[in-house]
Amino acid sequence: MRILFVCLGNICRSPTAEVVFRAVASREAPDIVLEIDSAGTAGYHVGELPDRRTRQAAARRGYDLSALRARVVEPRDFEYFDLILAMDRENLRALERRSPQHARERLRLFLDFAPETGVSEVPDPYYGGPNGFEDVLDLIEAASRGLLAHLRRKSQAA
Ligand code: 4NP
Repeated sequence: MRILFVCLGNICRSPTAEVVFRAVASREAPDIVLEIDSAGTAGYHVGELPDRRTRQAAARRGYDLSALRARVVEPRDFEYFDLILAMDRENLRALERRSPQHARERLRLFLDFAPETGVSEVPDPYYGGPNGFEDVLDLIEAASRGLLAHLRRKSQAA
């Protein structure tokens, strides 16, 4: 199973999702073989480390984002990944515009896997205050647990 997380810049939300989901999956479902990556729909920050505020907030919860570098979504991503999870509707629409028809069913909002939060989009924290980065982590941790439960049900059904 190959999963790609997507936001706008690939320096705040989607790298956080990549590392948090990888940690949750390896801790709670080491039996499920996963390939996890992240990318942005915009190229403003290509090659950069995740945002310092994102790295610091993640580090306080034990997640290390220092190995990641930003990249943009590429045409081959639509062929390679089984599930492409957007952080918000704007990025989901950007993916839909670029996706070949046959890959459209691979596109979802990440927070579809966290209905209990009552929130459907991970808000962009880039221009906001420090609480934004904590909110991003809370939502991503919740959706990571939900996504893992979904994958476990799928692997048991297979
Ligand atoms: P991200 O956050 O999409 O969660 O990585 C942003 C990063 C950069 C910008 C916007 C959002 N920017 O406008 O440069």
